[in-house]
Amino acid sequence: MQLLSVAIENYVQEHSTLETPLLNELRRETYLKVLMPHMVSGPVQGSVLAMLVRMIRPQRILEIGTFTGYSAIWMASAMPSGGKLITLDINEELSEMVQKYIHRSELQDVIEPKIGNALEIIPTLEETFELVFIDADKANYPHYYELALGKLRSGGFIIADNVLWHGKVVDSGKKVDAKTQVLKDFNAFIQQDSRVENVLLPIRDGLMVAQKK
Ligand SMILES: C[S@@+](CC[C@H](N)C(=O)[O-])C[C@H]1O[C@@H](n2cnc3c(N)ncnc32)[C@H](O)[C@@H]1O
Repeated sequence: MQLLSVAIENYVQEHSTLETPLLNELRRETYLKVLMPHMVSGPVQGSVLAMLVRMIRPQRILEIGTFTGYSAIWMASAMPSGGKLITLDINEELSEMVQKYIHRSELQDVIEPKIGNALEIIPTLEETFELVFIDADKANYPHYYELALGKLRSGGFIIADNVLWHGKVVDSGKKVDAKTQVLKDFNAFIQQDSRVENVLLPIRDGLMVAQKK
């Protein structure tokens, strides 16, 4: 389900800060060369993430789900000086492409990609974070959320992508598939979680923003 009409999507994009030519090239290369290219955040979501980073001004960001590095580069470009963004992905095949674009964007001192299973890496991280962006496999969202909360400063934010799951979270009268059910349970859990304040932003495929009290 398309959450907004194409005309509105285009209008929103035309009235938001543009992606840089380099990010445009990265997104185009993702669509040309990588399996499941639709997983890349689009330019509006990139612009939203960057704006949130400029508002929160985090010194430490954790991203779960690097893919080709598109969202990492958007967020890292908006970080205050001295900031660091650690980004995790289980797929090492994309590592060369990610490194290429990190270098070309001159963010090699800011972005630290780590390859491996996020469920195993997160407990080993010594940093605490002011922002965690969850954008990996949906089945593990509840686990990522708990791990992220444990690594988040009080007042810090978790942003979880795809929580509207193409609108399927509100489909009624249809058999609910496993991923949709995970996301419905995830949203319901956050809604009653007294450890956070939360708002579900209907941007692209839905961003759940939760602030740790
Ligand atoms: C939706 S894509 C991330 C898109 C990226 N954040 C962006 O906006 O351009 C999801 C990524 O999560 C990764 N992933 C899936 N399971 C994972 C796991 N257990 N640990 C780390 N990464 C995982 C996949 O390899 C994939 O690259």
